[in-house]
Amino acid sequence: MGKVRDSAPAVLARANLRASPGLAVAYWALVVVRAVLPAVLTLGLGALVRAVQEGRSVTGALVAVGATFALVSVLGPIHTQVAALVGDRTSGHLQAELTRACSSPKGIAHLERPGLADELVAARDFDLGILGPPISVSMGFVAAGLVELLGGAAQAVALATVTWWGAILIGGAWASTHWLLRSSSFWINRDETNVKAEQRHADYAYRLAVEAAPAKEVRLFGIGGWVVDRFAARRRRLLDLQWESMRLKQRSLLTVFAVLAVVHVVVLVWLVRGALHGDRTLAELVVAAQALVGVTALGVGASFSWALDSAAAPVKAVWKLAARMADEGALAASPDPAADPAGLPEREIRFRDVAFTYPSGGEPVYERLNLTIPAGRSLAIVGRNGVGKTTLVKLLCRLYDPTSGAVEVDGADIRRFDVDQWRERVAVVFQDFVRLELSMRDNVVPASIGAGTDPAVDPVVQRALVVAGAEGLAELDRTLSKAYEGGTDLSGGQWQRVALARALAAVELGAGVIVLDEPTAQLDVRGEAEIFERLLDATRGRTTILISHRFSTVRHADCIVVIEHGEVVEQGTHEELMALDGRYRTMFDLQAARFALGLDAEESEDGEDVDMDHLDHLDHLDGAGQLDGADGIHGGEVDHG
Ligand SMILES: Nc1ncnc2c1ncn2[C@@H]1O[C@H](COP(=O)(O)OP(=O)(O)OP(=O)(O)O)[C@@H](O)[C@H]1O
Ligand SMILES: [Mg+2]
Repeated sequence: MGKVRDSAPAVLARANLRASPGLAVAYWALVVVRAVLPAVLTLGLGALVRAVQEGRSVTGALVAVGATFALVSVLGPIHTQVAALVGDRTSGHLQAELTRACSSPKGIAHLERPGLADELVAARDFDLGILGPPISVSMGFVAAGLVELLGGAAQAVALATVTWWGAILIGGAWASTHWLLRSSSFWINRDETNVKAEQRHADYAYRLAVEAAPAKEVRLFGIGGWVVDRFAARRRRLLDLQWESMRLKQRSLLTVFAVLAVVHVVVLVWLVRGALHGDRTLAELVVAAQALVGVTALGVGASFSWALDSAAAPVKAVWKLAARMADEGALAASPDPAADPAGLPEREIRFRDVAFTYPSGGEPVYERLNLTIPAGRSLAIVGRNGVGKTTLVKLLCRLYDPTSGAVEVDGADIRRFDVDQWRERVAVVFQDFVRLELSMRDNVVPASIGAGTDPAVDPVVQRALVVAGAEGLAELDRTLSKAYEGGTDLSGGQWQRVALARALAAVELGAGVIVLDEPTAQLDVRGEAEIFERLLDATRGRTTILISHRFSTVRHADCIVVIEHGEVVEQGTHEELMALDGRYRTMFDLQAARFALGLDAEESEDGEDVDMDHLDHLDHLDGAGQLDGADGIHGGEVDHG
């Protein structure tokens, strides 16, 4: 039973039904009707001959044969049209299922697992058409093939009216060709890891070539030729793998010919003998001759199975992937209906003994992190690249859950909150914030996307843009991408201002926790100082978490923590940490020194020469060269400038 349900036609039919019930019923009904018609014609011709021989009226038989013949000719083209339509609908339906599968889990781990990424590419193939034709084309082949195959079976039934054992022998022989040629009709190891890996490499090369984002570097690195070669080579490898798996095995082909030859000889000899002895009527011979030709269609199955396979494979892949993604992307849920994050935190956010390793593997980022973030104040987090600052933010907004330990808000584990309700409390500008190819309004208040125009939103957007210094960059309705009619493009720093406006608007709309991950990395010097003042002003009284490598930004926070090796190693105000003379001071002084030496300033042309020599003299900067203060261009300028 399970086997039938999972067979390619059954899977395909279910997908068709889900995509478009009306068209699906029409398509599959046409398969059956068109398959039966030729056998009806065969029997009709037999009846016609019998009527002539017996001297009866031929009108009925003639009309039946004529009508059947007309139907056979008319239904073919109609079926082709229906097949293309149902195929397109099915593709669209699968694409929608895929996007839903990717975007609906509350976590994001399912999008980062290498294995699932491979499967995603494999499942999307029906869209890219790297391995097979689009489903709309396959549906046409499947229709033609199934009509022939079932038509062959119907002809075997017609043949059985003359010789039942002959029908079984001949029908069985042709049908067994499927079994013998099975290995060449389905790509059995299509699902194997190396196939998917090749597919993914081909897909990546393809995207490097056709997408706008990598276009700059592809040209500058001069790798355009390599991209094309790589795509062609990987695709070639795929075809080789397919051929290796599906090529005809000579031995089975010979067996097929031998079996077919023997049964045909037996049945034909029997028919001819019957005719010679007068045991068989002319009508029976006409039916047998027609049916024998028709039954051969049972043998074509092998050639259309690949179409069936290439239409059903993506359906199976999408369904399988959707189930796995729902699993992997799920967050551990122990919601407590009584726990309501509204208005929280009132006291603090606390990372308690948090251990975390990314689901995709690798070293643990944290083994035992303890950090208390006081509510209603600003906290800056500093630390080297890769120390886990952004990870902390992802845990705070529950894109992942800690491996052990907990993130608590006023003593309540955030896993007890409804995840959406908790996320509404938190406004985050990520380091790699999303640049939506939507209107300015939607970029500043993403919550308004698809919600229709809310007149209350525009003033919020305007105010946020002014504070972020992004007013006048584009009208609220203008799409922020040149890829659209009337759209516009922004520079990196301009985009960063829009992202900051996004956080500011969220604050005005009620978010209680604001997280800014490298919010000023792309701003010009004047912009940074100016905007930062305003930003702190606007978020006063809210819990603000600020991650930055720029000490000119960091020093304004009420409290600063330094993270190293997965732990908080220093905590205090700027003054306290400077007085402590530890890691914070080392990093601060390094950045200040670089600024004072002009190493990072724009006018430094000969920076390379002075660089390490000068720094060596700063004896308290032991090991400082490895610290990542270098991103900042004007660390302690307030003291030195
Ligand atoms: N999605 C991910 N899957 C697996 N490992 C990751 C992922 N994101 C980050 N990591 C790893 O986790 C560690 C911490 O990364 P994180 O992005 O939190 O660092 P960071 O402190 O924000 O660094 P930066 O200053 O460069 O922004 C790094 O070793 C990184 O390689
Ligand atoms: Mg980061």
